[in-house]
Amino acid sequence: MSTVVRTERRGGVLVVFIENPPVNAGSLEVRRGILDAINELSAKPALTAGVLIGAGNTFIAGSDLREFGQPLEAPELPGVIAAIEACEKPVVAALHGAALGGGFELALGCDARVGARRLVVGLPEVTLGMIPGAGGTQRLPRLIGVPRAIDWVCSGKRVPAELALELGVLDAIADEDLLDAAIKFSGRTKKRKLKDLSVPTSAEGELLAAEQAALRQGKGRPHVRAAIESVKLSRLAPIDEALRCERAVFTELRMSTDAFALRHQFFAERDAQKVSELRGVDPLPVTTIAVIGAGTMGTGIAIAALDGGHQVTLLERDPQSLQRGRERVAKHYETQSAKGKISAQDAERMLSALATSLDWAALAKADLVIEAVFEDLRVKHEVFSQIDQHARKGAVLASNTSYLDLDAIAAATGRPEDVIGLHFFSPANVMKLVEVVRGKASSATALATGVAIAKALRKMPVLSGNAFGFIGNRIYAAYRYQCELMLEDGAYPEQIDAALEEFGFAMGPFAVADMSGLDIAWRMRQARAELRNPAARYVSIPDRLCEMGRLGRKTGAGYYAYAEASRGTPDPIVRQLIEAARIGKGIQGRVLAPHEIVDRALLAMANEAAQLLAEGVCSRASDIDVVLANGYGFPRWQGGVVFWARRHGREALNQKMKWLNEIAGEGLVIADLEGLFED
Ligand code: NAI
Repeated sequence: MSTVVRTERRGGVLVVFIENPPVNAGSLEVRRGILDAINELSAKPALTAGVLIGAGNTFIAGSDLREFGQPLEAPELPGVIAAIEACEKPVVAALHGAALGGGFELALGCDARVGARRLVVGLPEVTLGMIPGAGGTQRLPRLIGVPRAIDWVCSGKRVPAELALELGVLDAIADEDLLDAAIKFSGRTKKRKLKDLSVPTSAEGELLAAEQAALRQGKGRPHVRAAIESVKLSRLAPIDEALRCERAVFTELRMSTDAFALRHQFFAERDAQKVSELRGVDPLPVTTIAVIGAGTMGTGIAIAALDGGHQVTLLERDPQSLQRGRERVAKHYETQSAKGKISAQDAERMLSALATSLDWAALAKADLVIEAVFEDLRVKHEVFSQIDQHARKGAVLASNTSYLDLDAIAAATGRPEDVIGLHFFSPANVMKLVEVVRGKASSATALATGVAIAKALRKMPVLSGNAFGFIGNRIYAAYRYQCELMLEDGAYPEQIDAALEEFGFAMGPFAVADMSGLDIAWRMRQARAELRNPAARYVSIPDRLCEMGRLGRKTGAGYYAYAEASRGTPDPIVRQLIEAARIGKGIQGRVLAPHEIVDRALLAMANEAAQLLAEGVCSRASDIDVVLANGYGFPRWQGGVVFWARRHGREALNQKMKWLNEIAGEGLVIADLEGLFED
């Protein structure tokens, strides 16, 4: 008797309930239970058909990811599907909630699929560094053609029931009771194995376009290439041979570094949502959000809030800025609707939920106020004292500050317990990360509300202590500083950027600096000059660039020169400046190999991460990897810096850190690295 699969007879139909809460994840026990049920269906003459259905609110929403890192145990999923196909009686999959990964492959192994209207189906294996391993890349193209199958498999997208029905992936949608509908359907259906269908032909141009789009989106990673090849094989090889190939590739890829790294990211993101200190704390309901400051961040946050279905009030200090802000939001929805990403009605509905105001009294309605004005403590103080006067009692008051002391901001109010940080990333309507910052007086309720609202906006909240730069910017600053040291030591911006882009960052640190503007960090260095460790090496190259008016892209030059609309090109003036800086310090520049560049940059990040853990700014090592992947373009398939550090093991990491200490010179404080290895 299986504990996770239960059977029940309904007339001549054997109903197989998969009951493995919370999401009916496919596991060894589930596979065993289904196989037993299929054997029962085959063996008993009184039974005429089978129906597979998930208990609770979903079908199999994916496989148990922990199994992927371990040796596989029989029965494996292809064996279960083969048994369904070999069974002479039809088996119908009754699908609701989500049928993903192995769950969807199981459904494709059945003779028909009946779905609930709100069902989603999809194959997310590629997003986890693998390819589908139980026929997904072979049975799906037989229904939807190779180009579309490449898109579904490589993007891991969740496809809604209606589209699935239109494309023949579902045979019916049930508006009444799903089980009843599937039982009825099983009476009408005959055996129909997808493996017996031929693959529809498709135009070569369409195929090539799908392939190129998938490679671009998947950054050409080996598992993305393998997925494309596997889907294409459906046209070329007999299915049994193609299924064997698919399984072999899956078996190999699931143990690849990419797959371990992406699984690590998956679990890290899931764990980051569980904040133990907020367990049992109810968030306050949030309907209306006021955003103060309609600049880059304020408008992005307003869009994110509108997308999340909230009423939004945007507040500014002068009519021009307010008008500009409103236009930016309107333009965004116009473009979205013109591109067909949302309907014109939805665009209109979102915009009608936006109010704009110059009057602080407009704050009175807000359940949550998010401040996004200039990064200047004096300005923030003024703004928070206004918020204090006008926001209703009990509203949560948040600052989007990047570096300022949240406690100093909260002190401008008479209710510091209601003040938290909500640090969004630019562009705020796109970037997933939100650091939820805990001030010394922040109440658990205010923090829980911050976490809940971030989730409601489909963001990834990570709790951070109130330290300079919080988690992400502080690690990023250590990384950038190490890269600047490498300029003095002999590397040039383009070499450092190339090495880190090869590692997987979308852009190297100097290209990023040019894009965001060199003046922000310049101002910060000036403001914090007195706090600087006098023993630490100080790299003045970025200051010199700023003094020359080279503030990055916006001034046409920074670390690189920017001709009209081009990517930056190395500039001899920058070379001269770097070489002069080396001479000034008596440094004999030497060639740095790409692996040395990557090692130094990542060791510096790992060291800062360990420091943050030791200081308690960050409570869980894996949170750091969530921050880096979702806010800083750290390649997901590298897992994050904690994953990277753990791969070395303690001993090797310690050795490498000693090496960094020697070459980076005075001032680099090596942290206790143990925290990086603790869960
Ligand atoms: P911004 O300069 O684009 O916008 C600031 C807006 O605030 C301006 O429209 C200004 O008119 C308005 N403002 C200034 N004083 C005001 C007042 N007293 N009352 C009402 N409105 C006022 O600045 P940005 O880039 O949007 O930054 C805002 C905040 O977000 C800063 O604290 C910054 O550190 C933070 N941040 C910025 C990021 C970025 O990439 N730009 C990323 C994450 C956080």
